[in-house]
Amino acid sequence: MAAGERRPRLRVAVLTSGGDAPGMNAAIRSAVRCGTELGLMMFGVQRGYAGLIENDVIPLDDRAVGGIIERGGTMLLSARSPEFLTPDGQAQALSTLRENALDALIVIGGNGSLSGARWLHGQGVSVVGIPASIDNDIPGTEMAIGVDTALNTVVEGLNRIRDTAVAHERAFVIEVMGRASGYIALMAGLAGGAEIVLLPEIPRSLEDIAGEVVEGVRKGKRHSIIVVAEGFQPTDVNLNGLSPGRAIANHLQRVGTLETRLTILGHVQRGGSPTAFDRILGSRYGHAAATWISEGRGGITATLSNGAIIPTAFDVLGQPCRNVERELYRLVQIVAH
Ligand code: F6P
Repeated sequence: MAAGERRPRLRVAVLTSGGDAPGMNAAIRSAVRCGTELGLMMFGVQRGYAGLIENDVIPLDDRAVGGIIERGGTMLLSARSPEFLTPDGQAQALSTLRENALDALIVIGGNGSLSGARWLHGQGVSVVGIPASIDNDIPGTEMAIGVDTALNTVVEGLNRIRDTAVAHERAFVIEVMGRASGYIALMAGLAGGAEIVLLPEIPRSLEDIAGEVVEGVRKGKRHSIIVVAEGFQPTDVNLNGLSPGRAIANHLQRVGTLETRLTILGHVQRGGSPTAFDRILGSRYGHAAATWISEGRGGITATLSNGAIIPTAFDVLGQPCRNVERELYRLVQIVAH
């Protein structure tokens, strides 16, 4: 570049993909405003990788991301995009990046979305990932965006259910999200004073679970709160399409020690105004991503480690996630005595 010639501004797009997570908006707002502060030209891709395939790109400036920090969901919309896994979809996505002369991408999402980011990086695109998933199952980070809000939503639900469980001397099975990760079930169970938590990572038999409820009644408990992750598999029964919560509730009702009810919390866990923690985490991740892109760095995810935001190579994504700690599982059992 000749002396005095101005370096062209880097053109950077942000997208949110996969299951939405409260706090995604804080990350978008921070990435955009920190990006403009650093001299980047910021854009948004709507509906995640689906929008990347369909060339759904919009310019974003500081004003465009105003009034969103307190909102759940994502202003950029989100989607799961099976098409992005096909050679045609991938070719389209790369052509959108070329057509819009985008130099770099910030991908906010869970494991699937970050795997997509890793693939794009392999194609020579400069990409920084931001972990966002209420499941908290992303390797390399202690916390993903959305986890804290979802956890507080579940605990609020448990508090309410406990009132009616106590009043009617019933057992309640509460099924929470987490197909492959028991993080929400474990932590909500600990914070909400559950008698039993059931995780995909730790299979148990229905017989064993019923035995524990019976034992609780023998010790003087007149109600029971059982939190089960949607991905839990009993060892003694084939679910045959039944949700694990339904299977457990049916079994307890048959055993008959306590009258039993089932509540499936479902997508209520994904919505709602983000907690302060998620807004702060999203803002910090957004800042880190914009900064690294402005420094020409890519192929990394912003991760939380011992309180600091640090870059973690995409290669870590394939490794097991260790956020469900056995000691905490044991602690739930001890404090439920
Ligand atoms: O990945 C987040 C998550 O909420 C999981 O806990 C849940 O299994 C899944 O998304 C539900 O996905 P969808 O909203 O596409 O049904």
